[in-house]
Amino acid sequence: MTEVVHIQAAVEAIDSAAAGFRPRLGIVLGSGLDACADAVTNTVDISYGDIPGFPRPAVDSHAGQLRLGTLGDVPVAVLRGRAHVYEGHALVDVVRPVRTLARLGCTSVILTNAAGSLRPAVEPGRLMMITDHINWSGLNPLTGPNLPDLGARFIDMTTAYDPELRRQLSTAASRVRLDLAEGVYCWYPGPSFETPAEIRAFKSLGADAVGMSTVPECIALRHMGVRVAGISTITNLAAGLGTGAALDHADVMTKGAAMADKLARLLSAFAREAIDVL
Ligand code: HPA
Repeated sequence: MTEVVHIQAAVEAIDSAAAGFRPRLGIVLGSGLDACADAVTNTVDISYGDIPGFPRPAVDSHAGQLRLGTLGDVPVAVLRGRAHVYEGHALVDVVRPVRTLARLGCTSVILTNAAGSLRPAVEPGRLMMITDHINWSGLNPLTGPNLPDLGARFIDMTTAYDPELRRQLSTAASRVRLDLAEGVYCWYPGPSFETPAEIRAFKSLGADAVGMSTVPECIALRHMGVRVAGISTITNLAAGLGTGAALDHADVMTKGAAMADKLARLLSAFAREAIDVL
């Protein structure tokens, strides 16, 4: 089966659970951020296990569920949890859920994640809008024969994070008095956290935050012509920049969960603000 057939099978399974529902905006919720899905109303939930080809996320705080519904007045599809390369998933599997959202009708997708900050002034607890990314992994979900049904062989990444969506996110943030930092996200595939030397290197390359996701999905969505926005929840200062305490996944989860409310406020305000451009 080609990948396009896999995606079609996923679309059909979702269609049969929610006949006629056409989401316009997709949202991917990262580690610890699952509670954001509570802001969605008129919901239909579909477990990833019931969607053929959807990988099961192993990280325990990830629900592994697609939630369809409305955010404000915008029809949305929310991926509650994602699969990561560090779990051993192939990149084609990691990006299949977002490709499926695109095929369902989403013309814009907001990718969220937990990330470590490289700028001490952007402390844990802050939200950072992603302006651009650095793909440190050397991996790319488009490696291999091109899938012309999805997009072109070579794709432009000059404005990978859509300027219009970024404008709308900034406006939404000021409307609800949320302080939104901006910066460049660097993908480090993990599962080990970075060394302090790597963090110094990323900083000199121009990175502002580091995390283990988001970049593959962004590339796959741009391939399909979908507009992308990205929000990092800053859960910690990156290795070597904090108090010297060891980085710990459980802390990342706790901090992420504490920020889910803030992120939900931003996403709801964005849906109100951006409805005319979605
Ligand atoms: N590094 C990589 N991934 C992360 C971090 C980090 O410091 N914090 C949350 N996810």
